Formats: sequence, structure tokens, C-alpha cells
Amino acid sequence: MWLQRLLSGAWPLTFILGLAVVPLQVRGLNNGLALTPPMGWLHWERFLCETDCQKEPWRCISEQLFMQMADMMVFQGWLDAGYQYLCIDDCWLAPERDANNRLQADPIRFPGGIKKLADYVHDRGLLLGIYQDVGKKTCAGFPGSKDFYELDAQTFADWGVDLLKFDGCYYGTLDELEDGYRRMSVALNRTGRNIVLSCEWPLYARPLTKVNYTEVAEYCNSWRNFADVSDSWSSVKAILDWTAILQNSLVPAAGPGAWNDPDMLVIGNFGLSWDQQVTQMALWCIMAAPLLMSNDLRDISAESKALLQNKEVIAINQDPLGAQGYRILTRWKKDSNFELWEKPLSAISLAVSITNRMEQGGPRRIEFSTTMLWKGTVCKKKCYITQLLPTRQEYGYLNITAKLPLWVNPTGTILLRID
Ligand code: GLA
Repeated sequence: MWLQRLLSGAWPLTFILGLAVVPLQVRGLNNGLALTPPMGWLHWERFLCETDCQKEPWRCISEQLFMQMADMMVFQGWLDAGYQYLCIDDCWLAPERDANNRLQADPIRFPGGIKKLADYVHDRGLLLGIYQDVGKKTCAGFPGSKDFYELDAQTFADWGVDLLKFDGCYYGTLDELEDGYRRMSVALNRTGRNIVLSCEWPLYARPLTKVNYTEVAEYCNSWRNFADVSDSWSSVKAILDWTAILQNSLVPAAGPGAWNDPDMLVIGNFGLSWDQQVTQMALWCIMAAPLLMSNDLRDISAESKALLQNKEVIAINQDPLGAQGYRILTRWKKDSNFELWEKPLSAISLAVSITNRMEQGGPRRIEFSTTMLWKGTVCKKKCYITQLLPTRQEYGYLNITAKLPLWVNPTGTILLRID
């Protein structure tokens, strides 16, 4: 798809040639799904594996939690903003399979079973995601899918599941890991139901082998590369740095139907300052990441909600070109505490983020110029600059010789759209 668009003349040739990290070929899992990064809600980071509904009725992993989240997604504008997948993570299962080896939800916490929950979710226009594992057990120790890939794929399809997050704990050997992912992907396709497959294959395979992203993208709609996100700036920073260091292999793998997954958005929780929440949102959009929030939609500040629901920012993430953004080398090496990323958009536009990585002092000024962009060739004579974050502001046309002073808070980000 990338290649077709590039060759269709939608891009100036200088721009194409200047971009060493632009993918020349993307072959995503051929199920026609996730043509833009999946958006939704996933329980893990915020709710973990709380199974005691007596003591923790408000936050235990139960059908009630998901029904409440489904209602919030519809009535609080999340679905309208694009967040469609309501996803269950680990700890939904009963400790054993049933007499026919079929998976079953914990009967106390999910008395209606997953089918009933799927109906509830679908009735509201949402889609349901579920979690399983390629190995003998899930990471939290519940029954895994090993030896039951076909049966489990069929069970999920029968229940009306729309997305499977497929983890890699207890995988056995590398061959078993890779084979398990292939088999589950094929089995899901064979059910005939549209089920997005979200993998963790590269995360588990990386210590043992060089990850073949072409192959991963043939079997998965998205895949995790790094450790779990936590509710902290150090975690968000680490994910950004990892992604930037490996961008030459990660960026070409991404495209419609196939996404690198830097893990959940933790905006609206406890650990990130306002500026750090802006940074996570801006950079997850630049990275064309799945936007899967893990927060409590029943209790979220108006600011975090507005940030997560910002339609123009989401549009950067959901741009149909499906290009993953990348960190651009600075031409202002004397000041390496600013970090710039750019993401090509359709219609010959760019999204650009400017992060102040200094963790001391106050707002710092950067004299932004379009010549800082990759090879500086996207704007022929002048570009129209719109700031989308932290607040919306139109700066109008900027000549390529002109400089725009911008002030960025410590650990904060300015997100620009350049047309
Ligand atoms: C792994 C995954 C997490 C989460 C937990 C659940 O750590 O990477 O995202 O799914 O397992 O146990």
C-alpha cells in the first residue's frame, strides 16, 4: 500500500528519496482489519489481576467492570471519538477448561459468560477484545492455548470476540512460540469471523533471535516489542527511546493492517504529570500506535478526557497513509535536549512533535524552522503550521527561511501539523 501511494505521485520525489526509514513494502496480515491503528480500552495497566470481588467490587476483573466501561465508552463520547474495542486482558478465565476442553470464563466473576458480554458490547456499537496466551499458561497462570489453538479460535469466534491479544508467557522453545502464533493466526482466519490479532511475538522472540518483521506482519495485526508500560514517566521515556533506537527495523514494518504496539496509554491515571500525558498522547499518535487506554473511565479528569478525545490529534494517529513516525536527527546538536519526531501524513502533510527532554528548569525556547525536518524538503517555499498540543493555535504560513519561537515545558511536547 505504501509503495502504491508513493509511486502514485502523492509524494515529491525529493521527499521519498530523502527518507531512509520510509517503508518500501508492507505486507500486513491479510484479514482486511486494523487498516488504521486499533483504538479502545484494555484493562491491564489500571486493573491488573484483581480477582477478589468481595473485597474489591469496584475494580475486580468481572463482567460488571466491562459493562460499566462499555456504558462509559458510549455515553462519555469515547466511541464517537473512535475508541471502539473494549478489551479484556488476563485473569478472566476459570482455573480449568471445561469437560470438552473448551475455555470458560470464571463463573463467579463472569456469571453470564463471554457470549453475553459480547452481546452487551455489540448492542452498544462497541467491539470486544479478549486475552489468551500462546503457551501452556497465561502470564498470570490461567490455562493457556498451547495444544488448543484451533479449538480456542473457534470458541472466541462462537462467542463473538472481535480482537485477540495473544501473549507469549510459558511458550516453551522459540519454534513453539513462533509456530503457536502462526497457528493461532491461521485458525482465527479459518473461523471466518473478523478477529484482529494483537501479538507479543517480537517481545518474547527478541532475546533469542533476530525478529523477522515481514513474517510477524503476515500473521499479526499489531505486535508488542518492549516491556509492559507502567504508570510512570520513566516507562514512557524508555518505550520512546527503545522505539527510536530500533526505528530502522520497526518503522518499515508498520502500515495498514500491521502496527508496532508500544503498549497502553496510561493517561488519566496517577503517574504522569499533565505535560507527560501530552507527551504520551502526541508520541503514540506520531508512532501510529494502537490507542488502547488503560484507565478508569468512571473516574477521569476533564483534562485527560479532552486530551484523549482530541479529534485532530487522533486524526494524526488514524491517518489513512498508515506511516509510523520516527525520531529525526537533530541539526542543532549543541542542544540535544529537544527531541523531534515526524510522521508523514496523506495529502503531503506532516505531523511533528517537539519534546523538551530536559527535566530541570522551566519552559525552554526552540526556534523552530521547517529546515529542521527530515532533509527539510517537505515545504517547498512555505508551510501552514497548526499547533494541536498542548493547546490549539494557528501560526499561519511559515517561510522556509523563517523561525518560529516555541516554548516547551520540561518533559512536555508540542505537536504540530504542517500542511
Ligand atoms: C504480560 C503482558 C501484559 C499483560 C500481562 C497479563 O506481561 O505483556 O500486557 O497482558 O502479561 O498477565
